[in-house]
Amino acid sequence: MTAGPTREKIDPVRFISNYSTGTFGYEIAREALRRGCRVTLVSGPTSLAAPQGVKFVGVETAAEMRRAVLKNIKNGDCVIMAAAVSDWRVRRPSAAKIKRKRESERVLELVENPDTLREIRKRKAPAALVGFALETEGLRGNALKKLKEKNLDMIVANRLGRGSSAFGDKKTDVLMIDRFGRETEAKGRSKRELAKIILDKAFGLGI
Ligand code: CTP
Repeated sequence: MTAGPTREKIDPVRFISNYSTGTFGYEIAREALRRGCRVTLVSGPTSLAAPQGVKFVGVETAAEMRRAVLKNIKNGDCVIMAAAVSDWRVRRPSAAKIKRKRESERVLELVENPDTLREIRKRKAPAALVGFALETEGLRGNALKKLKEKNLDMIVANRLGRGSSAFGDKKTDVLMIDRFGRETEAKGRSKRELAKIILDKAFGLGI
């Protein structure tokens, strides 16, 4: 299970990140524990306490998350990637704090991070591989594209905007699409309720 944001350093005091709180991933980890699963939680920085009983692997950057995920996956595992991974990192983070210079622009050069979810399908043999997508537009189309391109068993898509916030512990709507093209919409559900639905489906697909 992955959860939370990643951070990419600009200099020793600044980073690029996103609004992910980790709530969804931690709820799924908790629900899996309730079902008697052995759970490894690879998490970016969050303010949440690790659920009791998980093997917790704390990471900061997308590269660290990639290493931790690839190291911990065993064939036949159910892999659920709810982390909001930074798609880019700063090409050359500064070793010293960057000082303000008057009337100057600062350009950050970014390079793309590897897509760990895509890599898992190529290098590992999970029983079920579940990805997440957060979209501001074209939810269904973008989710279907990610499901196919990353060769997933299921994608869980959240909509962001028009009054819906996918961040934190608020109730939310998701669209789930599995590898057979079966779609399930769940509206106004807590993340705990959604965690149950997602695990029912993921374990069903893994058999
Ligand atoms: N993901 C990953 N490694 C990355 C980026 C994303 O493992 N470097 C995983 C996320 O954990 C999530 C899924 O891929 O399960 C979708 O992430 P998202 O950022 O929405 O997908 P992208 O393919 O990066 O598409 P875009 O940013 O264009 O929406």
